[in-house]
Amino acid sequence: MHRCVLTALLAAFAAFCTLSVSWSRSTDPTLQPASPNLPLGASVYAARCGMCHGTDGKGDGPYAPLVTPRPRDFTSGKYKFRSTSPGSIPSDADLARTIQDGLPGTSMPGMREFVGGDTLRALIGYIKSFSPRFTAERPAAVRSSATAAAPGSPGAGKKVYDKLQCYGCHGSDGTGADAIATGLTDDWQNPVAATNLTEPWTFRGGAGTEDIYYRLVAGIDGTPMPSFRGSASDRELTDLAAYVRSLGRTPVWSMKAGEVGSFYDSLEKKEMNDPVEHGRYLVESHGCIDCHTPRAADGSMLESLKLAGGMTFTLGPYGTVVSTNLTPDKETGIGGWTDDELKKAIMTGVRRDGSRSIPFPMPWTSYASFRNSDVTAIIAYLRSLPPVQNAIPAPKSLNVFSYLWAKFKMLILKQDFAVTSPPGNAGSARTSDTPQQANGGTR
Ligand code: HEC
Ligand code: HEC
Ligand code: HEC
Repeated sequence: MHRCVLTALLAAFAAFCTLSVSWSRSTDPTLQPASPNLPLGASVYAARCGMCHGTDGKGDGPYAPLVTPRPRDFTSGKYKFRSTSPGSIPSDADLARTIQDGLPGTSMPGMREFVGGDTLRALIGYIKSFSPRFTAERPAAVRSSATAAAPGSPGAGKKVYDKLQCYGCHGSDGTGADAIATGLTDDWQNPVAATNLTEPWTFRGGAGTEDIYYRLVAGIDGTPMPSFRGSASDRELTDLAAYVRSLGRTPVWSMKAGEVGSFYDSLEKKEMNDPVEHGRYLVESHGCIDCHTPRAADGSMLESLKLAGGMTFTLGPYGTVVSTNLTPDKETGIGGWTDDELKKAIMTGVRRDGSRSIPFPMPWTSYASFRNSDVTAIIAYLRSLPPVQNAIPAPKSLNVFSYLWAKFKMLILKQDFAVTSPPGNAGSARTSDTPQQANGGTR
């Protein structure tokens, strides 16, 4: 008797599962209503997308200057991660995948928890309305032959990797270490790196064999990654997708304790072979570039003054300091400094003239623990930059009355002072993209 109840329950459950499968099919985002619910789409967009993609979909929301890569400009109608022919608009299912899963390795978050069903359909309709391409064209789907049933052979795929010269951009081992084509840019003139194929968790379009197959057949529009549809047979591309998948290494978070140490040791050894590259990494990850490059009024970096100093910091009672020019210009930058002088400045805050800078904003106290090889690499990188002439004004202290008043506010009234940084270059360089600051002068 009990068994009967159980069987009935199981049957009901099975029926429910079938039902829910067909239910989820009927909410398939590819089944767009004839006219999308634009007001609903617009309100979800304003709440969840506009801060990056911009109110008008131009990819210029307030967060946009802070993230690399930049958020997509929807008005261009150009999409990277598609299951459609090169140059084609994406399918609704492609857009649904991006929105729900996000793009790993970028700031584009997965929104599965917040958008689904009707809101997802409305949102897709809304972002499509930013580009006239979606009314004028239809997505040209490519059919995938890379399925779980026919997975492809990594061994055969290795030969295709060499034949199609993937190593030119991704390197012979997929890490990009010995790539020939470097310094690539995308159609929006932003730098773009060929993906490290041994780190599949950063594949934006997904790391399954079928996902990879689509990237090979469809290309990644707007980037140097081309489509290989005409260059190899379907079988070959399926094998290649399997090979790329086989390159994936164990991520650090899944390694055993002993493996982590030796993994970083081997990584460090590789980096030490290329100090300039290691230095670039340190300069970008330790904030040097953020303080030593002046900014435009919209917060974006003034590219032509990269690392040329000129950012002003007002520091309450401590007056005003301007970040120094770290490019190898002989007169106004570090061109005439010795390695020792640079090392002292970076790690102990001792200026070239022997005086000491206060421990902020230049955070030399946190750089005091750099390894010798790190500072050497940083110096090697700074010396590899193009010299930029930008004479930096000396720090300015307050007159004695303002100083005492500021100290009084700080010590007696216990008021914190705000550190502010007006946009623009306080140095001498004048370029078309450089708003000159009123107090600009020379040191
Ligand atoms: C924190 C910033 C951020 C937010 C919030 C955000 N995105 Fe994105 N989005 C990005 C970035 C960055 C990219 C570009 C990634 C790249 O180029 O690889 C992107 C790309 C996209 C793409 C293009 C994918 C392709 O194939 O080219 C779509 C579609 C998209 N976002 C939709 C949305 C929608 C819809 C929302 C709101 C539900 C949203 N995004 C919210 C940062 C964001
Ligand atoms: C001309 C340079 C170039 C060549 C040649 C090239 N790629 Fe790429 N590849 C790129 C770039 C750049 C990206 C990163 C695109 C981006 O920013 O989204 C990329 C991304 C990828 C990705 C990651 C996709 C994702 O979902 O994020 C895979 C996988 C890939 N390439 C495989 C290959 C294979 C296999 C070949 C050879 C058939 C190849 N590539 C040839 C430049 C290239
Ligand atoms: C939070 C902002 C900030 C960061 C981060 C920063 N700096 Fe500085 N740096 C400054 C400012 C401001 C000065 C000028 C200080 C002064 O004159 O007292 C300066 C001065 C210097 C000097 C010249 C020392 C002198 O006073 O003559 C060097 C060299 C230098 N920084 C290198 C670096 C390097 C390398 C990094 C990254 C590892 C870095 N800075 C990170 C703000 C910063």
